[in-house]
Amino acid sequence: MITASLRNWYRKQGRDLPWRETGDPYKIWISEIILQQTRVAQGKDYYFRFIERFPNVKSLAAAEEDEVLKLWQGLGYYTRARNLHAAAKQVMETFSGIFPSAYSDIISLRGVGEYTAAAISSIAFNEPHAVVDGNVFRVMARLFGIELSIHASEGKKVIKEIAQSLLDPGNPGKHNQAVMDFGALICTPAQPRCMECVLLEYCTAFAENRVGELPVNERKISVRNRYFHYFHIRYNNCTFLQKRNGSDIWKNLFEFPLIETPEPSDFAELEKTDAFRQFFSGIPSLSVDHRLTIKHQLTHQTIHTRFYRVIIPDRTPYIPPKGIFEIEDERLSDYPVARLTHKYLEII
Ligand code: ADE
Repeated sequence: MITASLRNWYRKQGRDLPWRETGDPYKIWISEIILQQTRVAQGKDYYFRFIERFPNVKSLAAAEEDEVLKLWQGLGYYTRARNLHAAAKQVMETFSGIFPSAYSDIISLRGVGEYTAAAISSIAFNEPHAVVDGNVFRVMARLFGIELSIHASEGKKVIKEIAQSLLDPGNPGKHNQAVMDFGALICTPAQPRCMECVLLEYCTAFAENRVGELPVNERKISVRNRYFHYFHIRYNNCTFLQKRNGSDIWKNLFEFPLIETPEPSDFAELEKTDAFRQFFSGIPSLSVDHRLTIKHQLTHQTIHTRFYRVIIPDRTPYIPPKGIFEIEDERLSDYPVARLTHKYLEII
């Protein structure tokens, strides 16, 4: 009954979303990767742009990584874009350019976990795999009065079993999307629309007046504070960038020369560091004409950032240290940068 009521509701109230008009697994995959950490409203534009530039897996596999990252700019969680690119190559090499149809093959693609594999295999190939994400967890936890935490493996296991048992095997893709929409539109985290809910008569949380308490969301997260000091150098209508590498955040994105300190620091302190001396060796007169502080929140890190716009007089000879290269000001927008740098550039 729950399953049938959900489907009826979805038929009438489900959202018209662009990736629901296609059966193309490639496009469904792109939409699911975008929606992993992005809201539908924001994801739509990116989906259109992405599909327009890379209409099929072959074109994506053949692209330069910089271009893929550039298209992704602003969405955050750039690992998704790098994984998309790597997975497109995987499809070309391992699956002869044909998007795989079996769940076990789909989940072998880079960046595809259980949720995304269940979504793609059910929506594009009618395979009976229930999706479980935060939305689905909330709907199930309320319907069945489950008190296990969304962050505990036991909670995930129990909810997965319930979701799987409710799945409509005749139409798993539509069923999964019905649950997603139901969680996004009716059974919302705050102020759920219980008076419009077609499942109200089955809902344990509602019957016990515990809708606000479920799902249980306890977890211990530690958020790390980091202190970034960026130097936006202006010199002969040029500026300077470096490419981030290593296993830290924003791999392969570009940024201004950076000093990171373990604690908050100010310009006078920075001037005494080796890194600063290396950046600006041989510059007798350097001035700062603009400072901007931005606090940038990532999932497990707070980046406390200060941007300094530094003027080096045009005729001063200046050679930056290794790894930092000069570009003309107007070329700046050609380089993929993290959202933080993008924010700064929009403000100044
Ligand atoms: N979130 C993740 N996948 C989705 C989909 N296919 N439709 C709506 N929301 C989603």
